Amino acid sequence: MAQTDSIETILKEKRTFAPPETFSKQAHLNNLEEYEILWEQSQKDPVSFWEKAADEIHWFKRWDKPFVWNEPHAQWFVGAKTNAAYNCLDRHLKNGRGNKLALIWEGEDGQIVQWTYQELHQRVCRLANGLESKLQLKAGDTAAIYMPLVPEAVVVMLACARIGVVHSVIFAGFSSPSVRDRVLDAECKAVFTSDIGYRRGQVLELKKTIDEAVAGLSCVKHTVVLQRRSKTKMVGRDVDYDDLCENQPSSHAAKELDAEHPLYFLYTSGTTGKPKGIVHTTGGYLVGVTKTAKLIFDLKDKDVFWCTADIGWVTGHSYVVYGILSNGMTSVIYEGALNYPHPGRIWEIIDRHQVSIIYTAPTAIRSFMRSGDEHPQKYKLDSLRLLGTVGEPINPEAWMWYYNLVGKGRCPIVDTWWQTETGSILISPLPGVTALKPGSATRPFFGIVAEVVNEKGQACAPNEGGYLVIKHPWPAMLRTIHRDPDRFKQQYWSRFKGMYFTGDGAHMDENGYFWIKGRIDDVINVSGHRLGTMEIESALVSHPSVAEAAVVGRPDTLKGQGIVAFVIPRETAGTDGIEELGNVLKSHVVKEIGSLARPDEILFTKALPKTRSGKIMRRLLKDIAAGKEVSGDTTTLENPGLLDIIKPN
Ligand code: PRX
Repeated sequence: MAQTDSIETILKEKRTFAPPETFSKQAHLNNLEEYEILWEQSQKDPVSFWEKAADEIHWFKRWDKPFVWNEPHAQWFVGAKTNAAYNCLDRHLKNGRGNKLALIWEGEDGQIVQWTYQELHQRVCRLANGLESKLQLKAGDTAAIYMPLVPEAVVVMLACARIGVVHSVIFAGFSSPSVRDRVLDAECKAVFTSDIGYRRGQVLELKKTIDEAVAGLSCVKHTVVLQRRSKTKMVGRDVDYDDLCENQPSSHAAKELDAEHPLYFLYTSGTTGKPKGIVHTTGGYLVGVTKTAKLIFDLKDKDVFWCTADIGWVTGHSYVVYGILSNGMTSVIYEGALNYPHPGRIWEIIDRHQVSIIYTAPTAIRSFMRSGDEHPQKYKLDSLRLLGTVGEPINPEAWMWYYNLVGKGRCPIVDTWWQTETGSILISPLPGVTALKPGSATRPFFGIVAEVVNEKGQACAPNEGGYLVIKHPWPAMLRTIHRDPDRFKQQYWSRFKGMYFTGDGAHMDENGYFWIKGRIDDVINVSGHRLGTMEIESALVSHPSVAEAAVVGRPDTLKGQGIVAFVIPRETAGTDGIEELGNVLKSHVVKEIGSLARPDEILFTKALPKTRSGKIMRRLLKDIAAGKEVSGDTTTLENPGLLDIIKPN
């Protein structure tokens, strides 16, 4: 099924699913009337809603002002002092949750590690002490984390947060040039890594990648290495993770940080130029993720929560680590592929750890569907009570499959819309009150003023397609792009006056439900991850055999979107062995960016369709990539005949 089909199906989707009674009865929010009143109030006065939400976390000092807006610069809880790690750990020790499991980790080989809040706290304190005393790291310094999904990666994040070091987690699938760019942009003083990681039975040599990435970078003073395979002698700026923690006190006074102190940078793709270092702060972010996690996932003390995202993505930051631990929940993490070594691995893990809430991506659900109903059917899955999705629009077929085969019709699905930039979920059902429509993220969360507008920034009529915008700042929103405030303003706050521009197309139906259609810019969403076409193009043209390249997305039944590259080879490349060149270029992109950016197809051409002003007409390329008739207006094409030249080799 092509994506265009799925969008049409979504448009026709009329089914609704009321919250199951058994679920509603026990939910934090279960009275529709009360919900509507609270929601209306929060739309009129978002600041009061968030101020009340802020009372649910710990502050060393309360704020002087809840919100200061100097467009496009927002500040939340101004003058307040808090600490993210304190809220995720110490608070729970004080509330008697010390012996509760904070993390359940499973390795691909079946190894299991379980840490209570007390144990996690001690480990974080030891590392925080080591970072301060041995590496002289201090508040405001930056550190990169390039680690597999192991519990120590969470320790590193929280130890940084505890002392005010801004962390930048870089997904461990990125290759060394991508890591280097990010480390350099953030001027990281320390880099945390691991000798190896595991994926699909293979060993990933992470330390080797890091060594290449930071070679010659003078900003990096220390590379901290978690040695999993065997202990080797550390040389140069390398420091052994265990040595760093050894003999350090197991208590540590969390630094009292300004609410607006940056908690982390997270690099994400844009349409043009290098990845953007999205800046998130401490206080507002924590309020946003804590409140959304609690209400959207209806978190209860006995829940075992599993978000399958890697900590290299924002979903991992907000709903594996910060929002889940700040609510004192048990967070499951799994290092490995969800369908390895057998297609039912995900269901096996759910049964083994009695997971009650699972949060995953539509692309994963589609791959489970494809491998067959018999796999989830082999497992009980009776511990589950709520299902979630994130990352891309979910097609109704996948939604129904998830609902029936995984949730057995008794678990609501929360389809959560948000972005790296938004920090927390902005549009989502509240599972105890919202009637669900498959394929719709339903309504904005409390305090989130969302709208679909036309080119002029005016509200669209119900069911009329337009641009998704947010009309009032919210606490967890990005504050800027690191070292590029102009780009921040230009990208998010210039399209429509006074509104945050999401870059997504959407429509709202007659019930006020939002249906998100995906990106309207040249960003491809592959398996729920954003990739800038520009980055892949730069990687391609950096190869000596490539003169020009244009990259577009095409519908892909499994991944949401696949990557198609149109490449003009250099004269010197010749036409012999062009097929081989295709494979060489695919590997080249993997080497430059990482395997997530590997083009699915490379089409060689002698020219690219351009407008008279020299802009590549991507719309035409998208049609060709999707195997469709080229449609629409081609009158602005410099040379309409050019299209004939674009043919697969
Ligand atoms: O296009 C939207 C899509 O993913 C984009 C954000 O990507 P990223 O910053 O990588 O964050 C992904 C995880 C939060 C959005 O602009 N997207 C995300 N969630 C949904 C979605 N599209 C439709 N429905 C969703 N639930």
